Amino acid sequence: MAAVRIREAEEGDCGDVLRLIRELAEYEKLSEQVTISEEGPRIVGYGLYCFVYSTWKGRNIYLEDIYVMPEYRGQGIGSKIIKKVAEVALDQGCSQFRLAVLEWNKRAIDLYKALGTRDLTQEEGWHAFRFEGEAMEKLAGR
Ligand code: ACO
Repeated sequence: MAAVRIREAEEGDCGDVLRLIRELAEYEKLSEQVTISEEGPRIVGYGLYCFVYSTWKGRNIYLEDIYVMPEYRGQGIGSKIIKKVAEVALDQGCSQFRLAVLEWNKRAIDLYKALGTRDLTQEEGWHAFRFEGEAMEKLAGR
């Protein structure tokens, strides 16, 4: 006989429980009546940061990406991710928290401004540049 352990269900069992619910309904020949689905995804957004170094200010944090799934936007999740990055920045001794955004992304820009960022393009005239591909190979003499 198989060694089976009977235990209370846990949150992480949802997928398996749903599979068994479907199996039972199939056994009962009533599958079409099962309309429930698994809960929504458990990870609905992310922020990816790294540390950068300023000769003027020392260690800073750079938020490369922030994204929240469309159906979860407008509920404060993005702001919470940004606040979390600010906490990490302070805990790690950073004096600045930097990020860049495309100029057409007005909604994101408005959110960053509402949270207290300064627009360096507007205030100080900074342009963003990058070397890549052939230009980078050429520079490196390859
Ligand atoms: N859809 C809905 N609301 C948006 C959007 C969007 N695409 N972009 C910005 N917002 C604004 C809303 O106007 C809202 O302001 P309000 O509360 O005054 O109405 C505010 O964001 C909502 O704030 P939160 O709920 O805290 O933020 P949210 O969880 O919606 O996340 C985010 C904001 C990350 C910008 C999200 O909307 C998103 O993933 N957008 C698409 C991807 C994107 O633009 N990412 C940023 C690129 S720049 C970078 O990665 C550094």
